[in-house]
Amino acid sequence: MKHAHLAFQDWLADRAAHVERRLDELLPSVDTVPARLHEAMRYAVLGGGKRVRAALVYAAGQACPVTGHAAAIDASLDRAAAAVELIHAYSLVHDDLPCMDNDTLRRGRPTVHVQYDDATAMLVGDALQPLAFELLAEMPIAPALVVQATKVLARASGSLGMAGGQAIDLESVGRALDRDELQTMHGMKTGAMLAVSVALGGIVSGASSSARQALDDYAQAIGLAFQVVDDILDVTADTSRLGKTAGKDAAENKPTYVSLLGLDQARAFAQDLRAAALDALTPLGEGRARLAELADFIVLRDR
Ligand code: IPE
Ligand code: IPE
Ligand code: MG
Ligand code: MG
Ligand code: MG
Repeated sequence: MKHAHLAFQDWLADRAAHVERRLDELLPSVDTVPARLHEAMRYAVLGGGKRVRAALVYAAGQACPVTGHAAAIDASLDRAAAAVELIHAYSLVHDDLPCMDNDTLRRGRPTVHVQYDDATAMLVGDALQPLAFELLAEMPIAPALVVQATKVLARASGSLGMAGGQAIDLESVGRALDRDELQTMHGMKTGAMLAVSVALGGIVSGASSSARQALDDYAQAIGLAFQVVDDILDVTADTSRLGKTAGKDAAENKPTYVSLLGLDQARAFAQDLRAAALDALTPLGEGRARLAELADFIVLRDR
């Protein structure tokens, strides 16, 4: 297994720096017309973020025995990792707009609509999303796998995934959701993009159907856990650590796991999901190490 010698934090930093370089190369330069849009796209994507979704692509790719040309798989994992980070960055730019969460701080800097303007922020999202699919189309693997990858990313980001979850989030402001409704909203708005990151790693590396099932069970658990922890951190962490305004959920009357269950039970639920995620990985054997560490990171992180 590659980079097997690295401690987890060093491995994560390495993967984050690696995808950052790929993104830097793949995004149009600031002097490409229209310059201001390209500058704003680069501002939205580069220079921040934990890169958890990219790390999940790489970790899932490593978890499965390679069944193709290793260099082509690596190049494809890079494109898939960049693609999920592009969709994620676009979702944050739109999430922060005045018509959505109306946030002014993201990754420790002014949000895109504050730094530029609302129309540019909208167009940044419009442009990052197709760029993600362009990258998938360029993956040097079997065309049938490219089609599968395209379909799962489209599904995860659309109205049955992230965009749909965001719609439920906006409809739910000031309402008390029950536990099933909250799980549906969180699974869609956040879980789907984390889960597809894992799925893409499996697709690119040609994982068997039993490995894909294990990856999927793991991904469902960490996907939900990620947003449960995001809800917790909104209450417990401070703005400077988060790089985004803390305490926004309560201020905006958003239903969250903390508002539904209270802090202690929300924490216990995150731990249950972590245990379920680790359990789901058992069939993958030794290859599961980085995915297991990522489950721990997602639940134990402080930002
Ligand atoms: C924040 O995602 C938005 C959610 C989906 C909860 P991250 O916490 O992964 O944000 P970055 O990419 O590290 O900034
Ligand atoms: C964001 O959820 C989900 C997406 C961006 C799809 P939040 O609104 O809780 O994310 P933050 O807290 O602003 O990062
Ligand atoms: Mg939101
Ligand atoms: Mg938000
Ligand atoms: Mg949040």
